[in-house]
Amino acid sequence: MKKRVFSGIQPTGNIHIGNYIGATRHWAADQDIYDNIFCIVDLHAITIQQDPKQIKSKIREVTGLLLAAGIDPQKSIVFVQSHVHEHSELAWILNCFIPMGWMGRMTQYKEKSSKQKEQVSVGLFDYPALMAADILLYDTDVVPVGEDQKQHVELTRDAALRFNNIYGDIFTVPEPRIAEIGARIMGLDDPTKKMSKSEEAPNHAIALLDPPDVIQKKIMRATTDSETTVVFDEKRPGIYNLLTIYKTFTGEKDKDIEAKFAGKGYGDFKKALAEVVIEGLRPLQERYQKITGEAGYIDKVLAEGAAKAHPLAQKTLAKVQKAVGLG
Ligand code: TYM
Repeated sequence: MKKRVFSGIQPTGNIHIGNYIGATRHWAADQDIYDNIFCIVDLHAITIQQDPKQIKSKIREVTGLLLAAGIDPQKSIVFVQSHVHEHSELAWILNCFIPMGWMGRMTQYKEKSSKQKEQVSVGLFDYPALMAADILLYDTDVVPVGEDQKQHVELTRDAALRFNNIYGDIFTVPEPRIAEIGARIMGLDDPTKKMSKSEEAPNHAIALLDPPDVIQKKIMRATTDSETTVVFDEKRPGIYNLLTIYKTFTGEKDKDIEAKFAGKGYGDFKKALAEVVIEGLRPLQERYQKITGEAGYIDKVLAEGAAKAHPLAQKTLAKVQKAVGLG
C-alpha cells in the first residue's frame, strides 16, 4: 500500500515561484510514489477578508496552475476544501482538544496578526486547527510543505497524539516533508523576508504567470549587496536566494554554478537566472493556457475530486464523532 500524501494551498494572491519550488513541484514529481490528495483551501483564505468573486476565480487559477505543474487528476485527488463539509466539522471538534497555548505559539499567527492589529479574526488564530482537520481526515502519512508550514504540521501531530491518547487509535499521525533545497524562497525586494503571496510590493515575488519581460525586470532589480562574487554564502542573503532559485531550476551543483560564474558579476548572473526562470516556466505557462482554454474542464476536475474525497472524510469524521460521543 502506498503512503498517503495530503497538502493544501490557499486561493489568494498570485501563486509564485516560492510555492512552486517549495511545494507544488514536489507534489507533482512524487505523485507515483504516493496516494495523493491536494486541496485548494478556501476556508483558510477567508481567515483574512477576501473579495468573494476573487476567491472563485482564484480557485480556478490555482487549480489550473497545479494541473499545469504536472498534477494529474488520474493520479491525485484535487478538490476545494469547502466542498467537503467534514473539514469544518472536524475542525470544531479539534478546537475542543487543542490548548490555546499551542495556538498562541504559532509564528505565522504572530506575524499575520501583527500586521492586522485589531482586525484579527478568531479564524486566523484558529487556522492551525482547520489545517489539522484537513490532514487528519484523510489518514495522512506525509505532508509535503515549505518550511513556513512545518510548525503547523507539528501541531497537527501533537493534536493527533493527544486525541489518540484519550480515545485510542483514531488518527494516523502525520509527518511533515520539507524539501532540502528551496523550502524557504525569500522575497526579491527584501531577501530577509519569505516570498509571500500577500506581499504587494511590485518586485517582491515572481508569479508563475508573469510574462518573460516582467520576470526579467524583477530579477534584474532584485536586491543583492555590494560584493561582486557569485558564490553560495548564507551571510549574503540576496545572492544566496537567487543562486538557490538558479539551482532548483537547473538541478546543477553549487560548485558547478560557482565555476560557471567565476570572474563574472551580479549583472551577468542575473541575466542568466532570468533566462533559466523564463524557460523553466514556459512549458508550465503553455500548459496553463491550454488547460484553462478548455471550457468546463477545471470544474469537472474539482467536482470529481470532491466526490472522491468526501467518502474518505465522512468515514474519519464518523469515527471521531463516535469516539467523543456525538451523533
Ligand atoms: P500557502 O498557500 O501559503 O502555500 C502553499 C505551499 O507553498 C509553500 N510556500 C513556500 N515554499 C518555499 N518558499 C516560500 N517562500 C513559500 N511560500 C509558501 C508553503 O509552505 C505551502 O506548502 N496553510 C497552508 C495551506 C494548508 C495546508 C493544509 C498545507 C491548509 N491546509 C494541510 C498542508 C496541509 C498555506 O497557507 O499554504
